[in-house]
Amino acid sequence: MILPGASLEGEDLIVRYTPNDRSNHWITAISFVLLALSGLAMFHPAMFWLSALFGGGQWMRILHPFIGLVMFVSFGLLALRFWHHNLMDREDWQWLRQIDDVLNNREENLPEIGRYNAGQKMLFVALVGCMILLILSGIVIWRRYFSFYFPIEIIRLAALVHAVAAFVLIMSIIVHIYAALWIKGSIGAMVRGTVTLGWARKHHPRWFREVIRADRRPR
Ligand code: HEM
Repeated sequence: MILPGASLEGEDLIVRYTPNDRSNHWITAISFVLLALSGLAMFHPAMFWLSALFGGGQWMRILHPFIGLVMFVSFGLLALRFWHHNLMDREDWQWLRQIDDVLNNREENLPEIGRYNAGQKMLFVALVGCMILLILSGIVIWRRYFSFYFPIEIIRLAALVHAVAAFVLIMSIIVHIYAALWIKGSIGAMVRGTVTLGWARKHHPRWFREVIRADRRPR
C-alpha cells in the first residue's frame, strides 16, 4: 500500500510491515538477545558474569527455557506470516549464480529482486532449521520437566545439538543485523513499517512494481 506524502518531507511511502508484523519481529528479536546472553553465560565460565543480568545463575537457569518457548512461538508466528515471501524462484537461483555482481554492486546486471532477495530467503531457511533443532534439543535438556524421560546418551547428544544450533543461529543473526544496517532504510522498515519509493525501486524492483500495480487497481 502507498501512503501519499506520508514522510516528514512530504514524500510518498510504501507500507512494508504492519504493526503486527513489527511487534512479532521485535518480540522475537528481544527474546533472541536474552537467550543468547543467558545461553553464552551457561556455555562457558568466562561468560558467566552475564548471569548478573538475569538475577544470578539460578534465576538465569530457570528463565532461559521459558524465554526459549517465547522465542519459538513468536518466531513460529513470524515464519507463518512470511513463509510465502521466502520461496525460491528462478530469478533467485540466477541471482545466486551472479553473486559476484551482487558483491560488486553491479545491480544493473542482476535479475529483478522481489520482496526478498535469495540471501534473505536462505537466511530464513537457516533460521527455521535452527529453531526446530533448538526447541527439540532444548526440551530434552530441560532438566526440571523433561530430561528424566530420556537416556543420558540422548541428553548428551541434545546438549551438543543445542550448542551447535545456537552457534549457527547467533552467526546468522549477526549476518542479518549487518545486512539490515548495510542497506540504509531497512531498519526504518522494521521500526516504522514504511520504506521510500526509491528504496523499494533500488533494492526490490519487482516488489516495487507489484506494489505500484496493486495501488493503481480500482478499490
Ligand atoms: C536483534 C536485532 C535484529 C535486527 C536489527 C533485525 C532487523 C530486521 C530488519 C531491518 C528487517 C527487514 C528487512 C527487509 O525488509 O528487507 C528484518 C526482517 C526479518 N527479521 Fe530481523 N532483526 C533482528 C533480529 C531478528 C531475529 C532474532 C529473528 C529471528 C530469529 C529475525 C527474523 C526476521 C525475519 C524472519 C524477517 C523477515 C525477512 C524474511 O522473511 O526473509 N530478526 N529484521
